[in-house]
Amino acid sequence: MKKVKVITVSDSSFENKREDLSGKVTKDFLEDEFEVGDIDIIPDEKNIIKEKLLKYSNENYDIIITTGGTGFSKRDVTPEATLEVIEKRAFGIEIAMMTSSLKITPFAMLSRAICGIVNKSLIINLPGSPKAAKENLEVIKPALEHAVKMINTKKGQMHS
Ligand code: MTE
Repeated sequence: MKKVKVITVSDSSFENKREDLSGKVTKDFLEDEFEVGDIDIIPDEKNIIKEKLLKYSNENYDIIITTGGTGFSKRDVTPEATLEVIEKRAFGIEIAMMTSSLKITPFAMLSRAICGIVNKSLIINLPGSPKAAKENLEVIKPALEHAVKMINTKKGQMHS
């Protein structure tokens, strides 16, 4: 089974002021197909987010999913941290999430979620509400297994 790490990026959940529902929704949603590790709850601090993304990538997690911190407030820095660690951008996943979410709510345009690859890990930013996390996961889940397979395949191997 491929390994997934879920990181909840939220000052209020980190300070125990708000229950981490989006991390839980994400873990529950993926557990039938993936081995999902314990949820890590961290504050909206760019350096901590970067450090954790690299840590879990080095621990060979196939997919690292963040929830939260993608919006427009000053403390929302998950996309900036992600951009600073990824080696390749996965625009298609970003576009899939944005186009499907815009059909649900115009507020979807307020998410700046980034997706990309570092080492052999696929990083996916999800918005912070449990509803948004689930709506985005529903759209991308069918492609995740194949994405991980491609990351671990040498060029030319898959279609020969
Ligand atoms: N995407 C989906 N599918 N459904 C939603 O309800 N909420 C939006 C957006 N994306 C939403 C969504 C809202 S209201 C915001 S502010 C942004 O995600 C950013 O959320 P974040 O700052 O918690 O990451």
